[in-house]
Amino acid sequence: MNLYVRKLILSLWVVAITTDISNGCPEQCSCYSTTNGNDVSCEFQDLHSIPLNLGLPNDTYKLSVHSSSLPKIEDTDFSNLGNLTVLRMEYNGIFVISDNAFRYSRNLQILRMEDNKLLYLQGKLFVNNEHLIYLDFKSNAISTIEVEVFGRLVNLETLRLNNNKISSLDKRLFSNLTNLKTLSISNNLITNIEDNTFINLINIESLNIFDNRKMNRLTAFIFQNLTEVTVIDLKQCVIETIEANAFFNITGPLVLSLQNNKIREIHNKAFRDLTGVEIINLDDNFLQTVKSETFVNMPKLKVLTIRRNRIFHIEVNAFGELPELFFLSVLSNTLICDCRIRSFRLWILQQTSTIVDGAICSEQNGQLIKDILNVEECKETTTEIESSTITSESAETTQTIVITKTNNNVNQASSNISNLLGIIACTVSAMAFITIIIYIVIKTRCSNRSSVHKQNKTGKQEEIVGYDLAETPNCYSNEYDLPQEAI
Ligand SMILES: *[C@@H]1O[C@H](CO)[C@@H](O)[C@H](O)[C@H]1NC(C)=O
Ligand SMILES: *[C@@H]1O[C@H](CO)[C@@H](O)[C@H](O)[C@H]1NC(C)=O
Ligand SMILES: *[C@@H]1O[C@H](CO)[C@@H](O)[C@H](O)[C@H]1NC(C)=O
Ligand SMILES: *[C@@H]1O[C@H](CO)[C@@H](O)[C@H](O)[C@H]1NC(C)=O
Ligand SMILES: *[C@@H]1O[C@H](CO)[C@@H](O)[C@H](O)[C@H]1NC(C)=O
Repeated sequence: MNLYVRKLILSLWVVAITTDISNGCPEQCSCYSTTNGNDVSCEFQDLHSIPLNLGLPNDTYKLSVHSSSLPKIEDTDFSNLGNLTVLRMEYNGIFVISDNAFRYSRNLQILRMEDNKLLYLQGKLFVNNEHLIYLDFKSNAISTIEVEVFGRLVNLETLRLNNNKISSLDKRLFSNLTNLKTLSISNNLITNIEDNTFINLINIESLNIFDNRKMNRLTAFIFQNLTEVTVIDLKQCVIETIEANAFFNITGPLVLSLQNNKIREIHNKAFRDLTGVEIINLDDNFLQTVKSETFVNMPKLKVLTIRRNRIFHIEVNAFGELPELFFLSVLSNTLICDCRIRSFRLWILQQTSTIVDGAICSEQNGQLIKDILNVEECKETTTEIESSTITSESAETTQTIVITKTNNNVNQASSNISNLLGIIACTVSAMAFITIIIYIVIKTRCSNRSSVHKQNKTGKQEEIVGYDLAETPNCYSNEYDLPQEAI
């Protein structure tokens, strides 16, 4: 159809609408009068601008516009609709919203612009719209957002920007959204979230960041001040490392989704503040070890899954007492059942109300870890375990004390076995190496060790120290048998 004919048909049609406004409702629309004003729904086809301002009732309260090919929202489209409260323009193919399009819609509360073709959001778009509660720009092609655009929206509760082409977020972009409850920025091209981007979102409940396949870091304190948050969804990014304090001060109930990332390492203080967390999903990552004290002090944790990682080693005290935990899955990992699996095995036996899924020895035809009978003691000094224990002692908190207490039984059981083996070992070595020189060497080494433990031992840390001793078979029997004052 040539352009002239199209224009002719369109203008005839506009005339048709104009002449039809006698009843206050354009032909293409249906209008329902409500106590709040008119609820209007319009279905347009093949048009280049909306003839709305020509015909819509001026008390329109709610407006839905459906059109397959509307390129632009003009300044005047809603300019006489002072009471417009709900505007739905989803699935319209809109590329551009004119700067002043919403300027006269001071009562606008809900704006749905999802599934259009918008490329940018200019800063002045919402200068008069402080009543907005719900704003949806999902599934457009937005790559540029001017920093002031949401600056007035202090009542906004939901903001959806997911499925766009956003590559960076100015840290001031959300700074005035103190009432926001849901923020969706998933499925974009975000590479990095700057410090303080979320710091004023003090009422946020749901934070959806997943599917940003260029985001590889989670920096410390990034979620601080989000005391109300209950969902943080970070799945399907490319996060490699979770720094210490990444979840600083998130003490409320939380579902934390971290599956399908590239996490190789979780700092053992990364989850430290998650005292209210209920579900953690770490499936499909690249973890090789679970560090000491990673999953401790989580009294509400119910489900923890770490499936399909590459875990071969779980450090001593990686899991603390988790009283509410009913499901742990470590399915499809490569756990090695040498002496170092012992503490994880004891933990499994302790957690009587937890279903532990997939805790099998990868190199022994899938034998269940809890069924292994003789896990040998480690003969070599495991310095790695010692250093992490010492770290946790020096950062002395009330939490550490709780951990120490809850691990009492585990430690006690292991140190009993250790004592026995140690007495035998030292008797044999005494008979084998009677020379005074060797005796002195051993003696020196032991007294060095006891001075280290003496420094570390502060009040209630005895069980940890006891465990530490049990890991050093050359000396522990001597030290552990001595009365406390002598150490
Ligand atoms: C709405 O339109 C009616 C006529 O249709 C007019 O009398 C009235 O003043 C208008 N109200 C406003 C607020 O513009
Ligand atoms: C807009 O809403 C107010 C308050 O509900 C009402 O008084 C006013 O008449 C409405 N305006 C129009 C044009 O309907
Ligand atoms: C936030 O609100 C303040 C005060 O109204 C204003 O000065 C500031 O520019 C706003 N911030 C942004 C990013 O628009
Ligand atoms: C946390 O939010 C409060 C507002 O409730 C604000 O005053 C404070 O500065 C924020 N904290 C930080 C560390 O910015
Ligand atoms: C952490 O949370 C506690 C309790 O909600 C609060 O008292 C403290 O100020 C917060 N710390 C920081 C640095 O925001």
